[in-house]
Amino acid sequence: MTKDSSSSFKRILVHIVLLVLPLVSRSADPDPLQDFCVADLKGSISINGFPCKTTSEVTSNDFFFDGLSREGNTANKFGWNVTAANVLAFPALNTLGLSMNRVDFAPGGVNPPHSHPRSTEAVFVLKGKLLVGFVSTANILYSKVVTPGQMFVIPRGLVHFQRNVGTGKALAITAFNSQLPGSASLPQTLFASKPSIPTDVLTKAFQVDDTVIKHIESQLAS
Ligand SMILES: *[C@@H]1O[C@H](CO)[C@@H](O)[C@H](O)[C@H]1NC(C)=O
Repeated sequence: MTKDSSSSFKRILVHIVLLVLPLVSRSADPDPLQDFCVADLKGSISINGFPCKTTSEVTSNDFFFDGLSREGNTANKFGWNVTAANVLAFPALNTLGLSMNRVDFAPGGVNPPHSHPRSTEAVFVLKGKLLVGFVSTANILYSKVVTPGQMFVIPRGLVHFQRNVGTGKALAITAFNSQLPGSASLPQTLFASKPSIPTDVLTKAFQVDDTVIKHIESQLAS
């Protein structure tokens, strides 16, 4: 190749790369809308989410939900209850990319450390006094006591918790940028999965002996 033809070759190459780059960046997978979707290679429908109700059968009632108007029962060992307005409870949210929860707390109640794999969470406190916190992947705790009218935001996927630090009940509404955020509760995930995580994984991970693991497991068994 002459010097001239090699530089025009380079110019053409640069043009091809510039043309193809946007295509590459647009061909990423869509975000998942559920925990998993095992392929049925012979299935006639395959979607990420849920199929749609026939439009002629949709009414105003489909877009209405009053499930968050009732207080959840907090008479459990954590003193907390979550009522979900996600796509499973409120089907109109399908494909809209948002959902909400009502979270009730008894005095001293705790929403145990957990994470939402598919969503950021905005916590809006309506009643009481909540300590809300999350831990970043750099292992830094960011937390704040949040009172009525105030908000705290939990970035997508990070482990977080809430605790009622007031004297009475507390109530928060949480909003998600996912129709089904998913929730992995650390105590349940680690100590109450079915089948359970092998004890020697947990004894090593937590640097304790197996009686400690068995004790935690028995406390969480429902
Ligand atoms: C949350 O409250 C609802 C409604 O009172 C109740 O049916 C449900 O069992 C409660 N969940 C827990 C974990 O206590």
